Amino acid sequence: MALCSQLQNLSSLISPHGITTTTTKAPTRRHVVVHAAASDTTTSLQASSYEEGKLVRPKWTGETPLSRMVRALISFKPLYSILKLGARQVFISTAEKNNIPWREMTKEILESQVYKELDSIQNQSLVYPDYYLNPFHAYDEGNLTWLAAAEAEAATKSMVRRAIPTASSVEEATQIMRGNWLNAIEQHHLQHSQTSMIGDILDIGCSVGVSSRFLADKFPTANVIGLDMSPYFLAVAQHKEKSGTPRKNPIKWIHANGEDTGLPFKSFDLVSISYVFHECPARAIVNVVKEAFRFLRPGGTFAMTDNSPKSKVLQELSPVLFTLMKSTEPFLDEYYLTDMDETLREAGFVNIKSILTDPRHVTLTATVPQ
Ligand SMILES: C[S@@+](CC[C@H](N)C(=O)[O-])C[C@H]1O[C@@H](n2cnc3c(N)ncnc32)[C@H](O)[C@@H]1O
Repeated sequence: MALCSQLQNLSSLISPHGITTTTTKAPTRRHVVVHAAASDTTTSLQASSYEEGKLVRPKWTGETPLSRMVRALISFKPLYSILKLGARQVFISTAEKNNIPWREMTKEILESQVYKELDSIQNQSLVYPDYYLNPFHAYDEGNLTWLAAAEAEAATKSMVRRAIPTASSVEEATQIMRGNWLNAIEQHHLQHSQTSMIGDILDIGCSVGVSSRFLADKFPTANVIGLDMSPYFLAVAQHKEKSGTPRKNPIKWIHANGEDTGLPFKSFDLVSISYVFHECPARAIVNVVKEAFRFLRPGGTFAMTDNSPKSKVLQELSPVLFTLMKSTEPFLDEYYLTDMDETLREAGFVNIKSILTDPRHVTLTATVPQ
């Protein structure tokens, strides 16, 4: 009951600079990091810039009493329905308070020519794993709808804004967050790959193509493929790319499961998996990592970025916010319980490194032995 009334008043917890927690103040060295990252390839500055909490992972994750209590609450159907609606309201109102025109952006996609992209993108023979057919992010059909696809870019912007609440705008937050991530990748590849050239990049879980576009901009001579399991998301990605400035190397889109892509052995120099694993059960995470090892070339770089279990901000998230988050992301506990370093080691990767690239997210990089 207390939770319900807290939910009804949730908007008041949202400040014009994002979701208010007592601990989200970004380090004052933030601007130094961005300028350093943009002009040289040294990312070591970033490591010391974002604060880790005292725990291995937040108390609201995994198998702690608090985590189990939240899970039990969420599994109570009537409450889940309220939480789902509350979460949706929070997503939209937080975005719009932060000058992200969620409803306008959604309408623009839904009223566009996006639908005609579906046929050329959809792989009719793809069999979806069970987990992908669950309700997700407050959508009953998960990622397999036009609405989820139309709202994905606004949701991404909102996530970025939440990660860097002290940035002056969503654009600045994006520069910081995506810039630090890209620089961590570049730095790792330069340091550990004998052939520093990145010719072929696969972006697993590319959603509506935002991460693929960042990769293509950062590595303009590379061939970039965005792969996702939602044909609706890929249709939006292709539609957006077609309406942007043409590239010398156009991004290609593949509708497939990242666990079993069917792509040739040793055919990529870089695989990037951004903000995907917290949405996957542990077995899918392990399968994607193994698959990445298979299709990367010797010396190739693996890069994933996602929620950091060690993030101080996430460890100190308010009960209302973590309950809402868990209610729309059914595999968060499995993600937090997965030892990513060990998973990478077991798959055969070496040079495993992790760095907080913003107050909430870790970027983990690794190499396929030469
Ligand atoms: C939060 S989005 C990723 C956002 C994007 N990479 C970015 O950085 O903006 C997560 C994506 O992972 C995709 N996904 C989840 N499991 C997958 C799998 N096994 N294979 C391919 N895509 C998957 C979902 O369809 C969704 O589009």
